[in-house]
Amino acid sequence: MIKIGRVTVSLEMREIYLDGQLVHVGSRAFDILELLINARGKTVTKDEILREVWPKSVVEENNIHVQLSALRKIFGADKDVIRTISGRGYRLAAPVEESATLGMADAGAIHAGRTEPGKLSGLPVCHAPLIGRDAAIAEIGGALTGTPIVTLLGPGGIGKTQLAIAVAAAAATAATADVEVCFVALASVERGQCIVGTLAEALGVRRGDGADDADGVVTPETVVAAIAGRKLLILLDNCEHVIESAATVCELLVQASAEVRILATSREPLRTRDEKFYWVPPLDTPDLDASSQRILACASVRLFLARLDALNADFTSERDSLDMIATICRRLDGVPLALELAAARAGVFGIRKLLSEMDDRFRCLTGGRRTAPARQQTLAAALDWSYRLLDETERLVLHRLGVFPARFSLDAACAIATCERLSRNEVTEAMVGLASKCLVMTTFDSTVKAYFLLETTREYALCKLYESGEADEVHARGADYLEPAYEQRYTRGVVAGAPGRERALSSIAPG
Ligand SMILES: Nc1ncnc2c1ncn2[C@@H]1O[C@H](COP(=O)(O)OP(=O)(O)OP(=O)(O)O)[C@@H](O)[C@H]1O
Ligand SMILES: [Mg+2]
Repeated sequence: MIKIGRVTVSLEMREIYLDGQLVHVGSRAFDILELLINARGKTVTKDEILREVWPKSVVEENNIHVQLSALRKIFGADKDVIRTISGRGYRLAAPVEESATLGMADAGAIHAGRTEPGKLSGLPVCHAPLIGRDAAIAEIGGALTGTPIVTLLGPGGIGKTQLAIAVAAAAATAATADVEVCFVALASVERGQCIVGTLAEALGVRRGDGADDADGVVTPETVVAAIAGRKLLILLDNCEHVIESAATVCELLVQASAEVRILATSREPLRTRDEKFYWVPPLDTPDLDASSQRILACASVRLFLARLDALNADFTSERDSLDMIATICRRLDGVPLALELAAARAGVFGIRKLLSEMDDRFRCLTGGRRTAPARQQTLAAALDWSYRLLDETERLVLHRLGVFPARFSLDAACAIATCERLSRNEVTEAMVGLASKCLVMTTFDSTVKAYFLLETTREYALCKLYESGEADEVHARGADYLEPAYEQRYTRGVVAGAPGRERALSSIAPG
């Protein structure tokens, strides 16, 4: 496999994938791309192209332009990777990487439609078993037998997509499986847009297959007609930014056919009829006094070490290093994406340096996989994606909640966040919104509901609070509710890590 940015090419199979999805391209266009790849960045002249691609005929140069524009269309926003060298020819202006797998923006690699025709459509392959998710895979698989819609919920990078893929793959490969699995990646659909076109494409439904509406757009009814009689498991990945449309379409599909099951991933519930939620938990992290054996058994540590291992970095020989790794895993809340970014950083600078940077995590955890979607390239981007989906009140309340170092009650949240601009009722409403969008976590202290922020979310909220200039005011308003430890740090003049946070602001997108 050859990777060029988001595009992956199999020269052997003569196939091209964009973000892991097979795209169609004519054989001449493919021939040209192959020439460019083999030239490894050097210019391929027009004469060479004409000679190699049309060996038996004499054709106009125009033909090259037509094929090139087809290729550039595939590269989309990255179309300039095929550079025109004026008067001479063309060359690839991006690194060409060899890879054992398909480059995927949102997951590993796809079953290139060859496993069993019609059975797995675009489902990314899990190359290695997921760490710490065996019980979850079984539980979600079980839930899908009794409920038509199961939604995997959780904050960014917690592992919803990977888990959903593993569940779908298990469903498709079970001995009794007679289900067709269809993977629908929604992340690239514009915010608030309708998902029907993307769903139809993934299901192989084309315009003209049914009663299309007047503009020639595939209608939900066309999709419903096309799935009749098909036993389907549809994996709708990343619904949060198109939540209204996803909810409507899901309900429509499962009401039209008892044979359809939907496994959705989202940072917010769809809130449809017949929906069951599964809150994807973080990977478990070591307790403060855990033995070496216990530390090594924790899923978060196993993931961190596995990623270090892939970088040929080994830090496990000393107890000291192991304790530092345990602290890092705890401070990153056991969130897989954060652990992967941290392992990449540790591979370059070592564990001790990484640990010292934890107060400044948004600046240093930026080295995501080149082929990962933009929202997973940095830790800040993972939070930015959720933050952009908040309304103004939710944003204000989130900033203010950043001052809580530990669990807090609804009363405390209201005391801190209510102000002249925000009534207590509005703060309560915002708390509901933030909790359903996985930015505020909930738990129970005996019979009372308690709230807390993951440490990364809290750091993010604090950055925004300092940026807004209202930190002093918020602190004064809720001093009674804040722990003395926080009070001390604050009144010493500098909140620990604050200089770091100021620097970090530049790595967080403006609200
Ligand atoms: N259980 C796991 N074992 C190993 N790696 C994991 C696990 N869960 C997630 N990962 C890794 O963590 C990263 C984030 O996972 P994933 O894309 O599934 O998160 P997500 O919750 O879907 O995030 P988003 O909300 O941005 O879509 C991926 O690179 C994935 O490979
Ligand atoms: Mg996802």
